[in-house]
Amino acid sequence: MNRYYAGVKMLSFPEYDDGGAVVVEGLKDIPFEIKRVFYIFGKGNVGTVRGKHSNRKSEFVLFNVKGKSKVKTIDEDKNEVIYELNEPNQGVYLPKMVWKEMYDFTEDSVLMVLTNEYYDSSEYIRDFDDFVVEMKRIIAAESVQNQ
Ligand code: TYD
Repeated sequence: MNRYYAGVKMLSFPEYDDGGAVVVEGLKDIPFEIKRVFYIFGKGNVGTVRGKHSNRKSEFVLFNVKGKSKVKTIDEDKNEVIYELNEPNQGVYLPKMVWKEMYDFTEDSVLMVLTNEYYDSSEYIRDFDDFVVEMKRIIAAESVQNQ
């Protein structure tokens, strides 16, 4: 497993008011400062697969504040891992360069996405074969550096 995928992990966020509310603080509950927030609704996305990209700079934390969805990561060798998002205080952290797909949205799903970068289409890799080439190039360069 390459070091980017080794960094993928589930996170738990603190609840307060007897679980009536959840708080997420940048650099405390998640490993980056939050620069952008967007949310994806189940309405209009039931049965669709979103994401299908990898990012050269952006890291993400995804969690369902309501309803359910799934996040699948796929690495350069096509190994897949599925993370189920169904608790408002539990999210998945994705380092940069991780290929992700969001799917299985329930109708009531509200998938919250936090990231450390402003939107910049040029840092998105949207073709899986391009992603594999780029990832293998990075891994090869790092293994030369480490010799
Ligand atoms: P995309 O990144 O494919 O969305 P998702 O990851 O949710 O599947 O983006 C879909 C479109 O929305 C694309 O035209 C770019 C635009 N977009 C923005 O302008 N700003 C944003 O922050 C995001 C996430 C998307």
